[in-house]
Amino acid sequence: MTMLRALSCAVLMWPLSLTASHADGPGPAADTAPSQRRIAFGDDAKHTMLVAWQTRKAVDAPVVEYGIGLKRTLTTPARRAGYAYETGAIWEAALTGLKPDTVYSYRVGDPVGGFSDVASFRTAPDGSEEFTFTAFGDQGSTPAAEMNMTNVLIDRPAFHLLPGDLSYANGVHTRWDDYLALNEPLTREVPFMAVPGNHENEKLPGGKRPIGYAAFLARYALPGAESYYAFDYGQARFVGVDTVHLEQKEQLAWLEATLAAARRDAKVKWLIVFQHYPLYGSTRGRGDNDELIKLQQPLFDRYKVDLVVCGHDHVYERQFPMRGGKAVSESLTDYTQGAGTLYVIAGGGGISLYDFVPKRPAICAVREKAYSRLRVRVPVEGPLVAEALRLDGSLIDKFEIKPAR
Ligand SMILES: [Fe+2]
Repeated sequence: MTMLRALSCAVLMWPLSLTASHADGPGPAADTAPSQRRIAFGDDAKHTMLVAWQTRKAVDAPVVEYGIGLKRTLTTPARRAGYAYETGAIWEAALTGLKPDTVYSYRVGDPVGGFSDVASFRTAPDGSEEFTFTAFGDQGSTPAAEMNMTNVLIDRPAFHLLPGDLSYANGVHTRWDDYLALNEPLTREVPFMAVPGNHENEKLPGGKRPIGYAAFLARYALPGAESYYAFDYGQARFVGVDTVHLEQKEQLAWLEATLAAARRDAKVKWLIVFQHYPLYGSTRGRGDNDELIKLQQPLFDRYKVDLVVCGHDHVYERQFPMRGGKAVSESLTDYTQGAGTLYVIAGGGGISLYDFVPKRPAICAVREKAYSRLRVRVPVEGPLVAEALRLDGSLIDKFEIKPAR
């Protein structure tokens, strides 16, 4: 009897476990049902959205059906973006020629293999507009990671920045599936702008064989070089940097040219960098990154970068505005644009938390060992307002950068 019950349970559980994350439910189409949707802006956030997803088995005619409002009359075929250790078929498509400041609905799939449910996204505005973006790095697939993701979803930002260390797959590629499925409620509707951290630079289990960014690059569709890129939203330019390979001359030249171009462009009022490794920090066993300070601080000073959002240290930590390696203000909350760069570590995404060294460095304004997200309101006029929020919504830090004029 016990054996019989166990067998019938196994029979009942089998199709459910196969299809638990699939919109189409159990049945023969489950292996081809789309999952793990993620979207990101293309090089031009006003006109292009990149869409990626996965099916267990390949399909013949992968496609994105989309349109303004509910009229999904447009179609863009997807291409397969595989890598040697993939766990299914990864598809990506670039939706181009979109109208700015417009809500589109879309679904992904295949006429035979089945389609996802319908989701929506909004393109970037054509000109100035107040908006909010969020950020955290070092996320993983923990309960804290899921709650942080859900809090971002409630915030409904224009997009989310993920400054490195996403899945912590560490060469176990089904962990990428877990991570992408956990984040899908957010990433199917909110552009997810990730740059790689050291955990995207993977080795196969046992640490024997390096595979670099193979999984990250295949599983995400991102603008530019994908591991580093820039995009504009409203009157702000966002510059995503690959700090794992920052010493490479090509990227350094690109970074300087991108920052210089931003400061020549009258439309760019706010210049924001996001990257994995922080320049300054006070977690135990880490501290400041002298190599990065040497490479980046002169550039960030020269081009008066307003805000640098980092991860890597699993804490929230924020310095006073910095110029020439020194804090230039003693205020905890109010700053003037152009006086110094604000450096923030938003590494409390969810994977784990680190301890600080006991003594707070003089340049550090606020630090807390807490899971948290950064939420930044970028105005048309008036101050930029940044908040760091714990999982329960309470405030760790709030500061404002007032335009100089
Ligand atoms: Fe890291």
